[in-house]
Amino acid sequence: MGRKVIIAGNWKMNKNAAEGAALVEELKHICADSGCSCCGEVDVVVCPPFTTIAAVVEAAKGTPIKVGAQNIHWADNGAFTGEISGDMLKTSGVEYVIIGHSERRQYFGETDATVNARLKAALKYGLKPIVCVGELLAEREANRTEAVLSTQIRGGFAGITGEEMAGIVVAYEPVWAIGTGKTATPEIAEAAHAHIRGELAAMFGTEVAEKVRIQYGGSMKSANARELVAQKDIDGGLIGGAALKAGEFAALIREALGK
Ligand code: PGA
Repeated sequence: MGRKVIIAGNWKMNKNAAEGAALVEELKHICADSGCSCCGEVDVVVCPPFTTIAAVVEAAKGTPIKVGAQNIHWADNGAFTGEISGDMLKTSGVEYVIIGHSERRQYFGETDATVNARLKAALKYGLKPIVCVGELLAEREANRTEAVLSTQIRGGFAGITGEEMAGIVVAYEPVWAIGTGKTATPEIAEAAHAHIRGELAAMFGTEVAEKVRIQYGGSMKSANARELVAQKDIDGGLIGGAALKAGEFAALIREALGK
């Protein structure tokens, strides 16, 4: 399909500035020692907490490692205590931004409408969005996975142009697989990815849908990355726990590339 694999580490609420910089330094050493050039063949992104971004941007300078944030507010600025704007991210050296992670949907009242508003702000500021979708265990058990994904996609991507959509990354993260050690089998994940691509094709046309990179997320690690990314519609991963240790993250990147 010619879609470039994208592996993004979602550090969640882990790693202060010193710890985050140390993790990137360790990643750089691993790559240098092994003479590995994976970061050039695949898009590698790390998404630290806001207060760790500056240190990680500095540590990643001159390397192919890209930096992402974990959220963005929809307003340009103003009375929104505790929020961070697109301009603040962009001017901090951030290139990517995760939007609508299931933990934000679950604990912080994120809806498809707020996802859509944040997505539009990210595009306005030239940030590359990673938009998360995924079903709860109860929804899967009630055979509602496809309906849930369709609703999230239709709401989340409303009012987006085809040109914009082609540059957006979608992360399929079945909520029951996040942090639980329960990975979706490659077959289960592929079926969901194919459904997502079909829904995007219905909204934006096949040509656009074929360009969209769809990551899998949920207990992805070096031991299962290869078979997941080998699936036709799986173009990388959004990694939580396995992104917090440099050695494991580097191994996962190599496996995802099939090396
Ligand atoms: P996990 O988290 O890899 O620890 O399951 C993935 C995510 O929530 O993005």
